[in-house]
Amino acid sequence: MSTANRISISDLSAFKKRGEKFAMLTSYEQMSAGIFDEAGIPVLLVGDSAGNNFFGEENTIPVTVDELIPLARAVVKSTSRAMVVADFPFGSYEAGPDQALDTGIRFFKESKAHAVKLEGGKRIVPQIKRLIEAGIPVMGHLGLTPQSVHALGGFKVQGRGDDANRIKEDARALEAAGVFAIVLELVPEELAAEISQELSIPIIGIGAGKGCDGQVLVWTDLMGLTPNAPKLAKAYRNLRAEMSAAAKEWANDVATGQFPGPEQSFH
Ligand code: KIV
Repeated sequence: MSTANRISISDLSAFKKRGEKFAMLTSYEQMSAGIFDEAGIPVLLVGDSAGNNFFGEENTIPVTVDELIPLARAVVKSTSRAMVVADFPFGSYEAGPDQALDTGIRFFKESKAHAVKLEGGKRIVPQIKRLIEAGIPVMGHLGLTPQSVHALGGFKVQGRGDDANRIKEDARALEAAGVFAIVLELVPEELAAEISQELSIPIIGIGAGKGCDGQVLVWTDLMGLTPNAPKLAKAYRNLRAEMSAAAKEWANDVATGQFPGPEQSFH
């Protein structure tokens, strides 16, 4: 399918205007990407959460552009309808607009992702503007921004009490800079609902309550693969148990001579 048939930033804007809530899921490789695309998930995020869900790291901080580009390329190649958004990892845009543009160009040319996502508010507006001027659509990310987990003192709810104003101002600054959507992570439900009502761009929540225009989850949390998944996630299946049972069953069949059977044998 050509790019023309993919979900675009105008489609997301139309969802918001029509009050249609939409879903976004992470994906880091071919199989989940193809399944979610067929299931009609309109946006797939090649998140830097690949760090702790794909590369075996403790958190998102160690992930690099060189590691994420092949994952994003696999997700783009395995889908025909979803918009694929690539996350800028820590260290790939903080130095300023020139660095951000270099990173954006690499993601666009080498992975063919359709948009990029950056964590941060007012402080990264110059980077966002440079990317948008170059024709690279940008999704923002506010609230609990995992790349700043050490500065924030842990995975804590953001925007409680007076801190709500900081997040509102950041959201307004990102909209004014031209982002096409914002992820709001781990903020009080009331604050997320207020921001979603005030801004005209879609707000995609994760641990931000049901007042948002869309919701995003890490796919391994949704499928019950992640041990000790965060409270903001809901497991709709228990694939960890299913996969473990299948692996044990097969290994037992190998040990007892029941695999391969006649169907898997050649003469
Ligand atoms: O990297 C990621 O998975 C994310 C989502 C949690 C929004 O940024």
